[in-house]
Amino acid sequence: MLAEYASSLYALNEDGRLRGLKQHAGIDFVSNDYLALANAPRMRKAVSAALEAGTTIGAGGSRLLRGNCAEHETLEAEAAQFFRAETALFFGGGYMANFSVLTTLPQRGDLLVLDSLVHASIHEGARAGRADFRISNHNDPESVVDTIRDWRSKGGTGRIWIVAESLYSMDGDFAPLDDLVAIADRHDAFLMVDEAHATGVYGEQGRGLTAAYEGRENLLTVHTCGKALGAAGALVTASVVLRDFMINRCRPFIFATAHHP
Ligand SMILES: Cc1ncc(COP(=O)(O)O)c(C=O)c1O
Repeated sequence: MLAEYASSLYALNEDGRLRGLKQHAGIDFVSNDYLALANAPRMRKAVSAALEAGTTIGAGGSRLLRGNCAEHETLEAEAAQFFRAETALFFGGGYMANFSVLTTLPQRGDLLVLDSLVHASIHEGARAGRADFRISNHNDPESVVDTIRDWRSKGGTGRIWIVAESLYSMDGDFAPLDDLVAIADRHDAFLMVDEAHATGVYGEQGRGLTAAYEGRENLLTVHTCGKALGAAGALVTASVVLRDFMINRCRPFIFATAHHP
């Protein structure tokens, strides 16, 4: 029963690609705790103060049942104000946030244009969702336009969704956001930007690289809380209508037991 799995692991080991889990040690050159907040005294104090004040440890259930707490709503209100967006919606992690947005908002008949190097959660959300999706060349606005034109020329009539990261962690390069915003406007498209590696460290006050475009109806951003912000979870900023649509239609959001911000 286990032989196939064991031989697959053996092959990975032979290839020098077997992974294992190790506890961290030594100087941190690899984590995403860019601001050293994950273990900072003021974060510890904030968590202790919240527990002292009576915050429950587990939410106890989906936010659509009894798991929606004042803490979630306060965080979302503060985040919306900070990111200068109409609203923010909290998810259990960045993976869940990307997956949820992409399986909920783009509709059948729409087209998702994904930068070739976006995170696996975006690819998986696109694959699991209802819209068509195509991959554009990395950080290449012309390739985005060509992809849209090609799809339209083949009869595509739905809404376009352009998806990129603002800062790609593998090579440390930035998305051409000016161009992507302009393309989204020209094609009446939505632009979704995953700010996982920029939140907290880039943009005015650490609001991410989309800070310059905040408040646009066609912009959605994903800010993970588990990297520079030193905690866990993720916030999606969007218009009230899209937020409400996600609350009503988003299966992972409905069924997942929320955790506490
Ligand atoms: C660009 C990007 N988006 C999303 C995620 C997923 O975030 P989380 O670890 O909070 O699920 C990551 C995590 O590595 C990431 O690098």
